[in-house]
Amino acid sequence: MQLILGIESSCDETGVALVRLPTDGSLPQLLAHGLYSQIEMHRAYGGVVPELASRDHIRRVLPLTRQVLQQADVALSDIDVVAFTRGPGLAGALLVGAGVACALGAALSKPVLGVHHLEGHLLSPFLSADAPEFPFVALLVSGGHTQLMRVDGVGRYTILGETIDDAAGEAFDKSAKLLGLPYPGGPELSKLALDGDPKAFKLPRPLLHSGDLDFSFAGLKTAVLTQANKLGADLELRKADLAASTQAAIVEVLVKKTLAALQQTGMQRLVVAGGVGANRLLREQLNQACAQRGIRVHYPELHLCTDNGAMIAMAAAMRIQAGQQTPDTRYAFDVKPRWPLDSITVER
Ligand code: KG4
Ligand code: ZN
Repeated sequence: MQLILGIESSCDETGVALVRLPTDGSLPQLLAHGLYSQIEMHRAYGGVVPELASRDHIRRVLPLTRQVLQQADVALSDIDVVAFTRGPGLAGALLVGAGVACALGAALSKPVLGVHHLEGHLLSPFLSADAPEFPFVALLVSGGHTQLMRVDGVGRYTILGETIDDAAGEAFDKSAKLLGLPYPGGPELSKLALDGDPKAFKLPRPLLHSGDLDFSFAGLKTAVLTQANKLGADLELRKADLAASTQAAIVEVLVKKTLAALQQTGMQRLVVAGGVGANRLLREQLNQACAQRGIRVHYPELHLCTDNGAMIAMAAAMRIQAGQQTPDTRYAFDVKPRWPLDSITVER
């Protein structure tokens, strides 16, 4: 049995978690996790301010670590591996997690391991009671990424399609900003959409019939802006309708392309991960479409859809278990603000 501490600090959430890696080959178990969201702090600026994010990670990471250890009733010296998010993300924010992880490792003479943030999201459904089995198609929808992937096992990722411009979360956030909603816009926009008519406005579904599995969301915010300008003073009255129409456009493209990916690969299993995976309409439509086709859908637990430390500790544990990554004691950390997920694919 090994105890793995995971630290996430790539953006505006500080997450720390402790995972137990059993020796019998069974799935790693989450013992405790703690999260501090900086959303309130960044809200005043309408988005994440990288420098403020870094400074706040510094303030939160050690108290959170103490809290998690206490919750799990584990001593610092019991930790076997310290895992941290190595990228992608904000450079300064990543350096906080990497620096703290390496300092902890050096002080405890324990090895450290850098984790890919998106692999964390991708493997986060393995933390839920209804864990998936390999292989599956994954729809990874976060604030910075939108990708369809074929996942044949831990470290075996093939990108089937991805956004050529904005991510789905970005489309939610930017459209929400145009509607005057607070940051982060995704949850706010979907809340407002509950009171609106999704058919009220005709908005573009970019690349819907492109024949490939790529996405494009940059044009959508322009269309939302055009509609908002056209409405002028009436925007206040029609805001919920515009929010509902925007959400419907994003979700329709995500659902159609995901179904195409399932059909193309012939897979019977789908994993949805990343912040936008918390979206209710997306879940409803995917569940319905997949039920009709006999496809099983797996999500991370709702509170583990957005950034957290549990997924980082879990990804580290699964990589170690698969024999694909060995924690080391060089402590010569470097972070990777840009880091394509398929670059960490393990050769067969
Ligand atoms: O995965 P995540 O926490 O951070 C990144 O790695 O980017 O995703 C954050 C994104 C934001 O764009 C946020 O607006 C979006 O996920 N999001 C949602 C919902 N909850 C979070 N978008 C739509 N509906 C939601 N319920
Ligand atoms: Zn994320």
